[in-house]
Amino acid sequence: MSFIELKHINKRYPGVDKNAVTDFNLEINEKEFIAFVGPSGCGKSTTLRMIAGFEDITGGELMIDGVRMNEVAPRDRGISMVFQNYALYPHMTVEKNIAYGLQNMKVPKDEIKKKVEWAIDILGLQEYRYRKPKNLSGGQRQRVALGRAIVKDQKVFLMDEPLSNLDAKLRVSMRNEISKLHRSLGSTTIYVTHDQVEAMTMADRIVIMKDGVVQQVGAPMELYEHPQNKFVAGFIGSPQMNFYDVTVSGSTVTFADGSRMTLPQVIADKLSACGGELILGIRGEDIKFDSQNLGLYGESKQQAVIENTEIMGNENNLYFTFGGALTVARVSKYEVSRIGDSVEFVFVPHKMHFFDKETERVIG
Ligand SMILES: Nc1ncnc2c1ncn2[C@@H]1O[C@H](COP(=O)(O)OP(=O)(O)OP(=O)(O)O)[C@@H](O)[C@H]1O
Ligand SMILES: [Mg+2]
Repeated sequence: MSFIELKHINKRYPGVDKNAVTDFNLEINEKEFIAFVGPSGCGKSTTLRMIAGFEDITGGELMIDGVRMNEVAPRDRGISMVFQNYALYPHMTVEKNIAYGLQNMKVPKDEIKKKVEWAIDILGLQEYRYRKPKNLSGGQRQRVALGRAIVKDQKVFLMDEPLSNLDAKLRVSMRNEISKLHRSLGSTTIYVTHDQVEAMTMADRIVIMKDGVVQQVGAPMELYEHPQNKFVAGFIGSPQMNFYDVTVSGSTVTFADGSRMTLPQVIADKLSACGGELILGIRGEDIKFDSQNLGLYGESKQQAVIENTEIMGNENNLYFTFGGALTVARVSKYEVSRIGDSVEFVFVPHKMHFFDKETERVIG
């Protein structure tokens, strides 16, 4: 039996004529780390707040450990939560802010002390322990908010964008800390973020939402390799997947600028029932410039002139116009090309994604 179950959950805020969340279904296993990801306003916080009990559920049923939770008060749900807009107690020190929830729960004093020490230690707050929130940076305050939640030792841990105020370096180290914490606490975690890198690196499974509707649920690599629609394909992965309007006829793909590629028969067969007008998607790393791939797929070889480059160090992005669209290819640091260079390339055929032009659903 799954540990948390969302069954046909709907949310409509009073006075709004449209659902914030529509028919949300999900089964979460005990100890799983789930990420909700999607653009601003897609319903991530609303869903999390319904699970925590801070927002009424308009329709559907929420179960935790086999018990219906819809009418259960937040404090009785066995949940601790880090809010997107958390508020610390301004008159209390860091230490007291972290301890406060435990005092309310009547946890013995020596245990509180131990837990607060532990939280201060892993969150790197030692030198700020006697400071009040107004004398902390945004990132330090956010760590205090995390500390308040992790000391509570609940079965379910909900986090709403807990790293959004941190600088890039601290974000990466906190990402690791939260993953480690999750494993050591053994809690079931739901983590909300609009950052697909956070979702990809931390979660066992990702739920991608758009306009209040779940688009796809899956393990990070499943979403990356097998996106079910164009939205998921474009949302996961950076730089974004390249998309082209194409016409497929037999095994020939024709692009808007007249460029042509030949598809292997198995792929052509899959597309044969889908009319001719499709969207082709390909990730930057599946555009190949090396002689081996050029040899393998030589009959579909293309040419372009590099218009821009992004040098990242470990890898580089090459920008050029192809197929009627700006295209970005990812190459290793050993294959740098410069602006103005003429290059030859191929799309790896079995890495192409085809989407229906109307529904934007994947084909095949
Ligand atoms: N209290 C409210 N009353 C009315 N509408 C609301 C309320 N809270 C949120 N909404 C609306 O519900 C939708 C979902 O909001 P929600 O806060 O869940 O989005 P989100 O995915 O968390 O976005 P963000 O990434 O910006 O935090 C939005 O259209 C928002 O405007
Ligand atoms: Mg939100």
